[in-house]
Amino acid sequence: MRAMLEDNSADILGKACAGLGISPDQFSAAFADPPDEPALRAAAAQLGLGADALVAVARGTYLPEPGPDPDGFAMFTTMFGDMAVNSYAVWDEASGLAAAFDTGADCDGVLDLVRDRGLRLEAVFITHSHGDHIYDLDRLIEKTGAEVWTAEPVDRAKIFAPGKPFAVGALAISTRLTCGHSPCGVTYVVDGLSRRLAVTGDALFAGSMGGAKSSKSTYSDALRTTRREILSLPADTLLCPGHGPLTTVASEAVGNPFFPRTR
Ligand SMILES: [Fe+2]
Repeated sequence: MRAMLEDNSADILGKACAGLGISPDQFSAAFADPPDEPALRAAAAQLGLGADALVAVARGTYLPEPGPDPDGFAMFTTMFGDMAVNSYAVWDEASGLAAAFDTGADCDGVLDLVRDRGLRLEAVFITHSHGDHIYDLDRLIEKTGAEVWTAEPVDRAKIFAPGKPFAVGALAISTRLTCGHSPCGVTYVVDGLSRRLAVTGDALFAGSMGGAKSSKSTYSDALRTTRREILSLPADTLLCPGHGPLTTVASEAVGNPFFPRTR
């Protein structure tokens, strides 16, 4: 079964309005349920969103096509209150070394994976410091002894500057600053599996992105860094967001309303 998109068209409009500091009141017909298509298109034009992509999300016709999972990759979805949050693991079969990305609300999934496959969890990489993504970090450290890396302050974690490369067995992990949703959010690009993948945290969702609303600059940072650091990756790169389903660069380049194609 396909996971539902994280955001509907009203969520997207709300994030764009908040990010730009524009009152949503003037777009009431676009926020209606079901939304009025001409109003959606007019709102998209005013807010710098891709109109066709926004309409496709509103109609429920945008479905990301992530393709097959690579070997050595696992996704975990846990509930943080009423919100589903994703965390991930990758491992190098030959060396038995693994890495986790965030913990979500509950790290049982990665603990089971490590135990069942006889892996050693070397590192936990944090996408950003919001509580839903790191809720079970203490327990994961206690159970595995893994080293924790982050670019934003997180208890018990080592700080690194984005750009620093890591290795987990034969897997190469590069780090890219994708700030905006959070001040020093990181996207981790993993090479060495049968497909390249990128763990984006909340910098990008299938068909949306995490909100960036504290000021105009953080919203513009989010748009700029995600376009530059994520959407520039090869088209078939598997994208692993902090919420909602898996997707690819190719799917988001067409289907994400926040990143209209520049012609
Ligand atoms: Fe977040």
